[in-house]
Amino acid sequence: CGIVGYVGSQSALDVVTAGLKRLEYRGYDSAGVAVLADGGLATAKRAGKLVNLEKELAERPLPTGTTGIGHTRWATHGGPTDANAHPHLDNAGRVAVVHNGIIENFAALRAELAERGHDLVSETDTEVVAHLLAEEFSSCSDLAEAMRLVCRRLEGAFTLVAVHADAPDVVVGARRNSPLVVGVGEDEAFLASDVAAFIAHTRSAIELGQDQVVELRRDAVTVTGFDGSPADVRSYHVDWDASAAEKGGYASFMLKEIAEQPKAVADTLLGRIDETGSLTLDEVRIPADVLREADKVVIVACGTAFHAGLIAKYAIEHWTRIPCEVELASEFRYRDPILDQQTLVIAISQSGETMDTLMALRHAREQGAKVLAICNTNGSTIPRESDAVLYTHAGPEVAVASTKAFLTQLIACYLVALYLGQVRGTKWADEIRAVVRDLSSVPGAVERVLETMEPVRELARSLAEKDTVLFLGRHVGYPVALEGALKLKELAYMHAEGFAAGELKHGPIALIEDDVPVVVVVPSPRGRSVLHDKIVSNIQEIRARGARTIVIAEEGDEAVAPYADHLIRIPATPTLLQPLVATVPLQVFACELATARGNEVDQPRNLAKSVTVE
Ligand code: G6P
Repeated sequence: CGIVGYVGSQSALDVVTAGLKRLEYRGYDSAGVAVLADGGLATAKRAGKLVNLEKELAERPLPTGTTGIGHTRWATHGGPTDANAHPHLDNAGRVAVVHNGIIENFAALRAELAERGHDLVSETDTEVVAHLLAEEFSSCSDLAEAMRLVCRRLEGAFTLVAVHADAPDVVVGARRNSPLVVGVGEDEAFLASDVAAFIAHTRSAIELGQDQVVELRRDAVTVTGFDGSPADVRSYHVDWDASAAEKGGYASFMLKEIAEQPKAVADTLLGRIDETGSLTLDEVRIPADVLREADKVVIVACGTAFHAGLIAKYAIEHWTRIPCEVELASEFRYRDPILDQQTLVIAISQSGETMDTLMALRHAREQGAKVLAICNTNGSTIPRESDAVLYTHAGPEVAVASTKAFLTQLIACYLVALYLGQVRGTKWADEIRAVVRDLSSVPGAVERVLETMEPVRELARSLAEKDTVLFLGRHVGYPVALEGALKLKELAYMHAEGFAAGELKHGPIALIEDDVPVVVVVPSPRGRSVLHDKIVSNIQEIRARGARTIVIAEEGDEAVAPYADHLIRIPATPTLLQPLVATVPLQVFACELATARGNEVDQPRNLAKSVTVE
């Protein structure tokens, strides 16, 4: 969910709705606002995207006020209805609350409130907070104190922002787990889940820590712990350009972000390789002897970031000979994994907020493992709680389906793998040096792929009526196949599955029937040529059974051409780096196919970009 709060001299409604627009990537099941005006509280909320709320506000304008809050929701408790949309109010309609997260003891609190005569009208866990705040405020008349008292009674993960009609010119916020950032302006202050919501107004920001409450007034920002003790606040300058969060002429953020990949990759490499071709990852503050002694690497991540992890495993094991496991973060801690001081855990997350990944890293640290985060969002929770962080410099990624963040996660994974090889010494030292050199040509190679995508778009449009698309790959091409299928599921809402090509004959081949499109990622014929030949056989097997073969193969690979109904060429790259170029056509393919099916690619149904619940 996305949260915004404002107090200042501008129209709170204007600031809050503009902020929500920037946060819509966080959820778009419903949206709502509350404004303090004329001694009272005015609210509006609507199921569906923000435009529905904007229509409602145009038809029934709210009175103007300079203090307000807003919310854009990704539904957890209670369906995406008008009634379940935030803000939630107390019975007197004096308190309004917006919330991100899950309050685990809400049923008990709700029962308790009902017993005291409160009438709860929604199915959400948030509503109990409005009622509890109203109770506490009636005895202490201090909204920040009321918030602290309430937070001490809540269990679970929650970020809350509230206003009270009897506390004009005050907004309070509370943070546990999911992020909340304060923007400090001239005679105004902002609260938001992400700086993107207020970057048009101020670049001065304060990141709230875990279990802190903030009181916002026009001219003062006060931060305390849940127990009321004053908290250390450190403000920082936001160096993102406001235009980075705009579409800049592209039809969608996704298209813009696909196009930005050469730069994102180049920025992620920048300053990390010195003139002698050695890696200089000083930011990885884990001492070299700890890296040398690590006897196992475990990667935890979700969604697209998990696929980056699967590819990293090939690179890490090959270049360092350290065993590497990759695990879905949501599964990790529940299987009682074997970890100790010699385990290096790598947590990959674009947002740095994904709750499943955060919980996995906390579990790893509790067991004594060292955690290195690979993350795209400065100062977010996952890097803050890790021993070290390697930032990907993809810039803000707004489209829900990850593209440029994925490519930069791969770059970061390769850098870590190569760095481990460098620190530990490996028989592949020459290969490592060669790969480091090759990395610098990746931005150009991605650029070349992007220039040749028109046939891929045409093909995607021609497949818009299909029900199923299958994806096959071997070695690092296997995770690429999984990622291609995920993109298509997310965006085109089609049945899409990725398989290891060698596994085909053990079951999935039964799915092949006449004209089923099958995308095959073909490994380089150089290097591990056995794999290449095996996959060429796989292509023949499916073709003999009627499949329409869409083959992604290196330039100059002629052996595969006779079996390809559609041939998509990618530049030759070392085998382990091939995912950097092979993924790009699959992103373009999914984006175009989804558009042809009339779907909105930036905000696919039911999804949210950062999922801050487990
Ligand atoms: C969500 C998004 C996915 C993303 C995953 C992990 O499910 O819809 O696109 O890959 O979270 O996100 P993270 O921010 O941790 O990389």
